[in-house]
Amino acid sequence: MASNSLSRDESGLRSRTIVIGDRSFPYHFGRDCVAEIGAAIAELRPDKLVFVTDDDVAARYRHHLDTLAGSIPALILSHPSGESMKTLTCLSSHLETALRAGVTRRSVVVSFGGGVPGNLAGLMANLLFRGVRLVHVPTTTIAAMDSVLSLKQAINSGVGKNHLGTYYSPEAVFTDVELFTTLPERELRSGLCEMAKNCLAIQPSALAGLREVIAAGDMASPKSLLWLLDASIAAKSAVTRDDTFERREGLVLEYGHTAGHAIEICDHRARGVAGLPHGAAIALGMLVAAHISHARGGLSDDEVSVHYEIVTGLGVEPALPAAVGVDDVLAVIADDNKKGYLPPRPDTVPFVLLRSLGRPERTGDLPLVPVAVREIRAALDVIAQQSAAAPVAVG
Ligand SMILES: NC(=O)c1ccc[n+]([C@@H]2O[C@H](COP(=O)([O-])OP(=O)(O)OC[C@H]3O[C@@H](n4cnc5c(N)ncnc54)[C@H](O)[C@@H]3O)[C@@H](O)[C@H]2O)c1
Repeated sequence: MASNSLSRDESGLRSRTIVIGDRSFPYHFGRDCVAEIGAAIAELRPDKLVFVTDDDVAARYRHHLDTLAGSIPALILSHPSGESMKTLTCLSSHLETALRAGVTRRSVVVSFGGGVPGNLAGLMANLLFRGVRLVHVPTTTIAAMDSVLSLKQAINSGVGKNHLGTYYSPEAVFTDVELFTTLPERELRSGLCEMAKNCLAIQPSALAGLREVIAAGDMASPKSLLWLLDASIAAKSAVTRDDTFERREGLVLEYGHTAGHAIEICDHRARGVAGLPHGAAIALGMLVAAHISHARGGLSDDEVSVHYEIVTGLGVEPALPAAVGVDDVLAVIADDNKKGYLPPRPDTVPFVLLRSLGRPERTGDLPLVPVAVREIRAALDVIAQQSAAAPVAVG
């Protein structure tokens, strides 16, 4: 868990200690602090820095890479931006280049970018000489509020997403929220939807702060971003503290992901890159989970309404995209990757549901329960029947 106390070091950076199972590392964050981050990296006394970034980030922030490196010899490994680069081919090419450039056990791999460079850097650091030091400098909200708070490092295979991976811990994470201000609105909102999930499923006490950010109407202001980042660190860390591999308590982070991921896949099949961003799909998945929880006597009417208030406040229309049918979503849900955690039961899918905000339903000590396909269909039907103009139906 993030240590309870938020401290500030001499440079003004805020710091929290992240504990995940038997590993721990500091997470430093602030605003306009790239020079301070560079100074902190220099204190690791590396013989060489190996930056892993993507072409768009490198072009936009080349000056920051120079500041981060300072006088330390640096190698910049860059690739075209996007998920399609999370491959063994790209990883292998980066590794070969680093080795030919003389990387040693004293070198430090530094990710500078979103979750894609972050995952590639994590695997590189883990593989080079069976483990060299890793530092993350995330530049997207998804990376800063989600992926760097997990030890999971993975790339995609030709068969599926995140199929090849390991768990590896960074020496430290450094975030400058000013970097998020250049993110496209779509990326920013996607990260905020994941944050909303943390509030609803893990830390409802943070809802008041989230409402303030939404009401202020400027989610991209550094003040809002600093609050969101700190609240995300606290919420995610609260459930991974004793769960290094995110296979027990950490499964609650999957709230909204079962239906959400299926909606995302169906929409992208139908509309390609114009499909819903990941976070918006997860927001719809949370509405599905909320309706199922309500129908089972868990969430109250008010608590379902809170879901709608937050989801619509983040700009997500609470309706299935026109191109996505309920049967399509159910077909994809049948292949959900949480299969195997619960004893198999015909016509059911494991779901994270809530008894109340912040309190998941459980099977034994797992925050997962089997849900019948007919229950999922009923909840999807509610979402499918809604349109932007229709009043929000609860219950
Ligand atoms: N390890 C984990 O537990 C975990 C958790 C969540 C996500 N992930 C992984 O992270 C990836 C998604 O993360 P992502 O959305 O950051 O992907 P990404 O790295 O592809 O970044 C998204 C886009 O934002 C651009 N970008 C990055 N920083 C920017 C900035 N400051 N200003 C403007 N544009 C910028 C990038 O060039 C890219 O086009 C997925 O591969 C996912 O599997 C891993």
